[in-house]
Amino acid sequence: MGRIDKLIGEMTLAEKLGQLTMTASSYTVTGPVIAGDSTDAIRAGTIGNLLNMVGPGPVHEMQRLAVEESRLGIPLLIGLDIIHGHSTLFPIPLAEAAVFDPATWTLTAREAAREGAADGLAMTFAPMLDVSRDPRWGRTAEGSGEDPWLATLIARSKVLGFQGEDLAAADTLAACAKHFCAYSPVAGGREYASVDISERTLREVHLPAFEAAVRAGVVSVMPAFTDLAGLPMTCHTGLLRDYLRGQLGFEGVIVSDYNAIAELIKHGVAEDLADAAARALSAGVDIDMMSDAYRRGLPVALERGTASLAQIDTAVRRVLTLKERLGLFDDPYRRGSTPEAAGTTAQRRALARSVAARSIVLLKNDGAALPLAAALRNIAVVGPLAAATGEMRGPWWAAGTEEMNVNVVDGLRAALPGVEIRHAAGTTIEGDDRSGIAAAVAACEGAGAIVLCLGEAAVMSGEAASRADPGLPGQQRALAEAVAAHARAHRVPLIGVLFSGRPLVIPWLAEQSDALVAAWFLGCEAGNALADVLTGTVSPSGRTPMSWPRSVGQVPVFFGQRPTGRPADPKDKFTSKYLDVANDPLYPFGHGLTYGQVTIDKLGVSAATIQPGQTITVSVALTNIGRRAAEETVFLFTRDKVASVARPLLELRGFAKITLAPGASGVVHLPLSANDLRFLGPDLEPVFEPGEVEVLAGPCADRAQLLATTIVLE
Ligand code: NOJ
Repeated sequence: MGRIDKLIGEMTLAEKLGQLTMTASSYTVTGPVIAGDSTDAIRAGTIGNLLNMVGPGPVHEMQRLAVEESRLGIPLLIGLDIIHGHSTLFPIPLAEAAVFDPATWTLTAREAAREGAADGLAMTFAPMLDVSRDPRWGRTAEGSGEDPWLATLIARSKVLGFQGEDLAAADTLAACAKHFCAYSPVAGGREYASVDISERTLREVHLPAFEAAVRAGVVSVMPAFTDLAGLPMTCHTGLLRDYLRGQLGFEGVIVSDYNAIAELIKHGVAEDLADAAARALSAGVDIDMMSDAYRRGLPVALERGTASLAQIDTAVRRVLTLKERLGLFDDPYRRGSTPEAAGTTAQRRALARSVAARSIVLLKNDGAALPLAAALRNIAVVGPLAAATGEMRGPWWAAGTEEMNVNVVDGLRAALPGVEIRHAAGTTIEGDDRSGIAAAVAACEGAGAIVLCLGEAAVMSGEAASRADPGLPGQQRALAEAVAAHARAHRVPLIGVLFSGRPLVIPWLAEQSDALVAAWFLGCEAGNALADVLTGTVSPSGRTPMSWPRSVGQVPVFFGQRPTGRPADPKDKFTSKYLDVANDPLYPFGHGLTYGQVTIDKLGVSAATIQPGQTITVSVALTNIGRRAAEETVFLFTRDKVASVARPLLELRGFAKITLAPGASGVVHLPLSANDLRFLGPDLEPVFEPGEVEVLAGPCADRAQLLATTIVLE
């Protein structure tokens, strides 16, 4: 008999339920604090997993209680939300998606895992794979934006990065694909609200990234807080048991979200805690995070006959198997036992700086306002986000501190030691105070350029941070208008730098500024990375992974929309459009300028016909007709014009990058697989439908900027 079966044979019910329980912990000067419990529970074997603890000291102390002082000596599984770095914070996931480079996505996850594991941890609750088409939803910040195919690439890259090649190694973390599934299309963009989408959208948009994570070997999955058409994910038998476990063959651990099992009562599908616990367990949820529903409810459910010991044993086996695969039985202190080598942190910060610079999206650059002219002698850096050191972290910071970040003022001062950098905040991020606006305008007096740093506070995105009106909060518009009026009057370039966990709705600012930069939340090296781009040391290359609406009323606005029977026609009232705003977004998916000027010259395909199983090559020739080098991103889309079920107007199939010196030309080659042209037919079964397929390539999802040709699927 193997170790796990032997243990299960020896365990009491209370010890089994302990393995199915994850409890929040924290460590203070007076010692460990375990939510609603004490460390005695670890000794008794009735708490088997912890979250929210950092530091090898505390982690090993807790581990020692479990391993050396509990009856069976089963090690704890200890996890934390390491979302975009552990102590060295990288750009938020939405920002990092803008890099469009899977190797980078893997590398930052690898580094986050190494740093987190060196802190004693064995699990992260990431990657977040929710495709978001609604910037009102705050958790948009944690995902990769609007495109389902892009999300599959992120899923694979992140799982490989966190879990490494050997899950038992001292520098790996168990990854957790979340939030399964369809959490983002909450009604009205309101956090935790109900979700009701079609089966087709579920399958085409929300499930593929989870499938990719499972195929990449992810060892845990977290159900979403939300319900889908009345069935909460935490007890969704059809999706958890039948689809995830049954169809995809997922054998890992399903860990509930925070208190989500108990919330089944408020969802209105469970009578009491025992009922909630029985429903979650029978759907396949192995670990109860923070509800204490399994420990308190399952004994009652066993008596009622609504849960069985066999179900409990199955869940315990999965949890113990994960602990075994992580190497925790062999050496529970492996993670966190060796401090990282000197120099590792510096190297990691250098990586954070380069990834942050590559995540920046140059949305607008009229009159070559950027890069800042080398001859400038003074620059005004104004706005409430200009010196906001702590905000640079974004909505998740794990073990990252406020002080370790570089703000914009400091970054520019370090990059431009000979230039006078004047700063005034002008106003606070939120609130009604306009009293500093005059001083901010005064700080702009005599400046050769104005860098206006606006946006959200870090906690205005992420969990529980929906915004009905995702523009600039507080008095920032008043500040921007005053500064813009000054800039216009003195003919000084106005460079807007926007911090946010989502595309903001700021058409007026886009109009008033000469250059506009999406800085998202870039992590610990934010200010240095922005200085690199603003000064031209780095040529911007980021591309927005999400459309920027012109108006909240357009939401959801995304490139993968289906056609209408009445496409917009300005001459015909009875066509699909608004009376008060254009249909297209302010900035489409993929948009992002460089300091060069790249033209797409030619599109070619290696074959004009394609059959199932085949792959052709799409070649795109480009020239940089600008005066500075550029890293250009080329996107490949297809459009199936006639199908049994209307297909989206554009479907993303690939992207490629090429660096071009001024005047240089080059060609990128993108594979296009016929298998990608398969889709779910009228009965939701995958079909190939022979016929013409448009192949399009170009700099973003704006059709007018794409070159197109047609191939035939045979
Ligand atoms: C709630 C969040 O929804 C989830 O993403 C996170 O992993 C858990 N809390 C644990 O912090």
